[in-house]
Amino acid sequence: MTSASASASALEHGSPAGDRSSADWSAAAREHLWMGNMRRDQVEYHGPLVVDSADGVYLHSADGARYIDAMAGAWVVNAGHGRTEIVDAMARQASRLPFVLNEGYTNTTTVALAERLLDLVPGSYDRVFFTSGGSEAVETALKMVRQRWAVRGTPRHKVIGRELSYHGATWGAMSVSGFPDWRWPFAPPVPGASFIPHPTCIRCPLGLAYPSCGVACASSLRDAIEKAGPAKVGAVIAEPISAASSAHVPPDEYWPIIRSICDEYGVLLIADEIVTGFGRTGEWFGLQHWGVEPDILVLGKGMTSGYFPLAAVLNRAELTADLDADGFVHGYTFSGHPVACAAAMANLDILEREQLPSNARRQGERLTRLLTEGLADCSILGDVRGRGLLMSIELVRDRTTMERFTDPFALAAIGKPIFMRHGVLCRVGPQIRLGPPLSITDAETDALAAALVAAILEVEEWVRSEETDGSEQVAHAGDTAPPVTAGRGR
Ligand SMILES: Cc1ncc(COP(=O)(O)O)c(C=O)c1O
Repeated sequence: MTSASASASALEHGSPAGDRSSADWSAAAREHLWMGNMRRDQVEYHGPLVVDSADGVYLHSADGARYIDAMAGAWVVNAGHGRTEIVDAMARQASRLPFVLNEGYTNTTTVALAERLLDLVPGSYDRVFFTSGGSEAVETALKMVRQRWAVRGTPRHKVIGRELSYHGATWGAMSVSGFPDWRWPFAPPVPGASFIPHPTCIRCPLGLAYPSCGVACASSLRDAIEKAGPAKVGAVIAEPISAASSAHVPPDEYWPIIRSICDEYGVLLIADEIVTGFGRTGEWFGLQHWGVEPDILVLGKGMTSGYFPLAAVLNRAELTADLDADGFVHGYTFSGHPVACAAAMANLDILEREQLPSNARRQGERLTRLLTEGLADCSILGDVRGRGLLMSIELVRDRTTMERFTDPFALAAIGKPIFMRHGVLCRVGPQIRLGPPLSITDAETDALAAALVAAILEVEEWVRSEETDGSEQVAHAGDTAPPVTAGRGR
């Protein structure tokens, strides 16, 4: 599927690519750029691929090869690439007012977006705090919680998160993220975080089975609050469906149980909808699947489809009253950036007009069906799961026993080049993370499914050949696997 059809428009749009080769760009990137969330040996091994332009669901590398953006960045580009409508709105805004500080004064576009978000989200929220990225937004939510309890004279500094969850890279957000690999090099984290098991039913961390388990992973929140001390727990933070944990969909009872335990102890519920917001799971917001309303709603990524960085925290009126008592003295220079808000307004127009949340639901079902059919006989297929276009394929060494791969990083090292040869860009490993733009068409979903099936069957061949001859694995993949033994799980 990889095509050499260069993006004809790249140079017209001011690309610096010129006639410099993709390999040259890649070498420069290796030398001069820190890559996010990757070990150096992984960066060296995987390139990085340098992307120069994009349209629709496709990314074009600097030398013109075409790939399906199967993760839409990281569940960001919901409206798809090349939306001139968003670009024009940003240009108009930048010409009229590129920037004004959101401190004492603000601007029309930012106010309009705040009103629009408060109308759009289900439930009753009162105010919006804009930030540039999701980590800043989570940080803001955590500070709101701290201040709320301080104002009430009952400081509650503890926060309960979930194992395997991810909430961001800043100190507070990192501290409530449940994967130890994300915290250990920066230890000690902000004190007060503890974690309950993630709802991963196909491999229950509690060794139970649904439904006889009674959704113990959710009710374990009560034990966690009791253990931490009910008078000290200020909030629970969780994603409706966690992309970091690879799209395990909690059972129907899960979220109502979490909500009712929070209510029982007067603990605030923070929903991190940075990935699940804006249609990704087939509803506008993830918790709509469960009919549950959090006290604080955190949004990001798909709000602008990545055309400009923007995230937001929405809070209920009760919290506004607490924070207004002393004033919420917190802010970022770029809070409510007018160009970001203009991008969001135009992006929301597209999501609404083209009903992209519904398309996410349809295409998610289509992709699931095609993958399940195409991989029906694949011995390493463990699971195809998710909701809407937040999906994951789990690969296992043995489908009948669900035995895991002993070296997930070697699998990633072998698998990623195979996926790229089939024209697909996404996170590859024992869990293949998927989340293409919500604008994806039937034909594009079919092409994505076909490429994924072909790539996974090729990975299966490598796995089986490795069992018979350990040295063949590397030759088969066409490259040398890096000596990666640890790293990040995202
Ligand atoms: C669920 C979730 N929360 C928070 C974040 C942090 O957002 P950002 O990377 O924009 O700071 C991410 C990023 O991937 C995320 O997936």
